[in-house]
Amino acid sequence: MWRASVLSIFPDMFPGPLGVSLAGKALTAGAWALDVVDIRNFAADKHRTVDDTPAGGGPGMVMKADVLARAIDAAAADARPLLLLSPRGVPLTQNRVEALAGGPGVVLVCGRFEGVDERVIAARGLEEVSVGDYVLSGGEIAAMALIDACVRLLPGVMGAPDSAAEESFTHGLLEYPHYTRPPVFEGRPIPEVLLSGDHAKIAAWRRAEAERLTRERRPDLWAARDRKVTKPAG
Ligand SMILES: C[S@@+](CC[C@H](N)C(=O)[O-])C[C@H]1O[C@@H](n2cnc3c(N)ncnc32)[C@H](O)[C@@H]1O
Repeated sequence: MWRASVLSIFPDMFPGPLGVSLAGKALTAGAWALDVVDIRNFAADKHRTVDDTPAGGGPGMVMKADVLARAIDAAAADARPLLLLSPRGVPLTQNRVEALAGGPGVVLVCGRFEGVDERVIAARGLEEVSVGDYVLSGGEIAAMALIDACVRLLPGVMGAPDSAAEESFTHGLLEYPHYTRPPVFEGRPIPEVLLSGDHAKIAAWRRAEAERLTRERRPDLWAARDRKVTKPAG
């Protein structure tokens, strides 16, 4: 079974949003498993200290390598990828999410304070993963985002099996616009083609809209797609 192990100094934040809706139902149904490890349980003193002042001075505190290493050693005894949520990590993409969802699960280390002692990152081979170019106060919400993105791709979790195939990023395009009843909302009608019943025309319209939105909103994705399309074979 796909398993997420999360190492955090705020274990009570879990399952949080992962306990409701699709992910929550799948968790209750046993489609995936979650264990949360309290990093403080691996501290060596009676105050359960997990952080210390930065070598070289400067603001904030740093998560201690020895405490974190003990927590990791207790949680990560199998072949699952060992990831540290980190703003300086490789940005998470739908491709990576698909690969992670197709594996045995993940072990996720949630940073806090100014960050994590570099030596434990090197010593335990932590792979740094970012959820975007902004700074959160801790890795927990980033871990939840990663887990949620993976869990919805697990077999049987999403209602309609085609949903994932058509979504943003799956084919290097953003998704086309959606509409539902009423046919007119505040003077804005549903595009006529969607009510035509002509499936080929509808598919062509959706494709054109997906391309237009990607060109307008994400020139980076569009350029990457262009490069793939024009790349010579071989
Ligand atoms: C306040 S942040 C530390 C930021 C760090 N001093 C820096 O400038 O890169 C504390 C923790 O939040 C998590 N975090 C913050 N932003 C993140 C992001 N964009 N993606 C993934 N994790 C993030 C990381 O685990 C990080 O160690």
